[in-house]
Amino acid sequence: MCGIVGYIGAQSAASVVLHGLRQLEYRGYDSAGMAVINSDGALHVRREAGKLINLAQLLDQEPLQGQVGVGHTRWATHGPPCQRNAHPHRSVDGKLVVVQNGIVENFTELRQQLQLDGYTFHSDTDTEVIVHLIHRYYHNGSAGNLVNAVQRTLHDLKGPSAIVVLSQDAPDQLIAARLGNAGGVAIGQGEGEMFIASDIPAILRHTRQITFLENRQMAVITAQGAHYMDLEGSPLAKQSIQIEWNPLAAEKGEFRHFMQKEIYEQGRSLTDTLRGRLDFQQQRVMLDSLNLTDDQLRTLDKVTIVACGTSYYAGLVGKYLIEQVARLPVEVDYASEFRYRQPVVKPSHLVVAITQSGETVDTLAALEEARAHGALTVAIVNAVGSQAARVCDGLIYMQAGPEIGVASTKAFTASVTDLFLLAIYLGQARGTLDDARRAELIQAVAALPGLAGELLENAWQGNLYKDLAERFYQYRNFLYLGRGINFPIALEGALKLKEISYIHAEGYAAGEMKHGPIALIDQEMPTLVIAPRDSVYGKMISQIEQVKARGGLVLAVAHAADETIKAKADVVLPIPISHELLTPILAVMPLQILAYEIALRRGVDVDQPRNLAKSVTVE
Ligand code: G6P
Repeated sequence: MCGIVGYIGAQSAASVVLHGLRQLEYRGYDSAGMAVINSDGALHVRREAGKLINLAQLLDQEPLQGQVGVGHTRWATHGPPCQRNAHPHRSVDGKLVVVQNGIVENFTELRQQLQLDGYTFHSDTDTEVIVHLIHRYYHNGSAGNLVNAVQRTLHDLKGPSAIVVLSQDAPDQLIAARLGNAGGVAIGQGEGEMFIASDIPAILRHTRQITFLENRQMAVITAQGAHYMDLEGSPLAKQSIQIEWNPLAAEKGEFRHFMQKEIYEQGRSLTDTLRGRLDFQQQRVMLDSLNLTDDQLRTLDKVTIVACGTSYYAGLVGKYLIEQVARLPVEVDYASEFRYRQPVVKPSHLVVAITQSGETVDTLAALEEARAHGALTVAIVNAVGSQAARVCDGLIYMQAGPEIGVASTKAFTASVTDLFLLAIYLGQARGTLDDARRAELIQAVAALPGLAGELLENAWQGNLYKDLAERFYQYRNFLYLGRGINFPIALEGALKLKEISYIHAEGYAAGEMKHGPIALIDQEMPTLVIAPRDSVYGKMISQIEQVKARGGLVLAVAHAADETIKAKADVVLPIPISHELLTPILAVMPLQILAYEIALRRGVDVDQPRNLAKSVTVE
């Protein structure tokens, strides 16, 4: 959740670290801080509450000069978001700093021990115990060997942690370490300079040669390179990988917000998602990185999808897709529930994790649980080289490019598209699709990016969403209804509105409306109805009638030329006609745009809504 950036080399550490933190601010924006060893050989720290801009302003007034430094953006777990709790945290003698992403689960006990040893705490954070422990070992037990002191400290910690340590006693090195699923620690190799980051967009403009730390690994990093070792000090030979992402893809360009950019680039991102995966001659889907043989796929008797947040809703669409196309039973579970409910998992099950970041702690733990029971595991993941991508039997990259806006948009449509491909792939292997059906599905998905591009272009050119936002931004409650494969779109549409506009919105299965939510219908609560011409179209029309009969307002996501809906609904949010199984991917786009435009008018910082973070690496 927090973001860490480290630098050692010949450039100004403060400017490299600050630029990197800007790319990571989506991970946490409660406070930010930086430590640099200045040319005078002393460690200097700047910290500020609130967003990164506050730290940047402080650095303008009180600059840091030096070639080695570390910075942090915080998403608060222990202690309120104020300057006192901002990282880096400093040792009592001021010579050593630590930044952390994660949680020290045994921090109360460690804090008590340290207090008994005479350490005074200046913050409410769990991180501060780490810096005092390192300081204590360094002076007592490790005989001035900092690396050893860090190793011993890590042995004392419970819970996931990624840390970076900088000491003025060892000014030519940074130490990075990782315990458990604390989120990524990427180490970038430059020419006479090295970089550390929680996520690669922070350092992509400097290097694409990246090495990732795994659980219980650490690195001692100088300007010339990194020495990797385990927590016992045994050396490790680690391979770097070349990252292909274009650094510009992680910039906002002409758009006002990342979320806006990511919504409107979905025509392109869907093209990328499909790239290299459709064989038009054979009318087959190719998913080589899935790494599973047709024999393995034939013996499966169940698919379980695990994910969190928006990725979970993508998983719910996946259930409809896989069950209809591959005729395999599918269960979809919140990763946070799956991991603690002793699920029945067998080697004949395929567990599919969906995760944009590849580092959501609950999703990683659910994968571990699945592996422990011998299930086959596949990750649908966007962040290249992330943890989820490294621990599964098979992999489907979303190929959507970096997603920075906290509210997920293009990763959602990419992951549903990947689930569609997976459904066809399973169907191919298991013989549930005849040639004609396969060709129909492949033609349909090939047309998808064009349809998305057309929808988005029309929305961009017109004023529909701006006018609607103007009309509705002060409403307090919204209801979203969908049925069948578009039921999850009602959930996702409501989530988008909640996340970025702070308006209460509820997603409901349309057929369930009569069992409760209908009592809420009045002029004050608009109802969003997802009603493309699919197999439940007639039912959705009845739903609209029922809302209208009770004096409610209806905004319908429907085909542009649907005269029936035009006559019944108050407003139509148009989508082009597509294959029924692909309507969720198009139907979600108007809901993303509406949420964005409403949030703008409510003055919310759309890319960094309060209390949220892009990657949830703590429980
Ligand atoms: C956070 C983000 C959501 C995201 C969810 C799951 O809540 O704010 O946008 O859907 O985590 O993240 P993942 O990276 O696993 O897809």
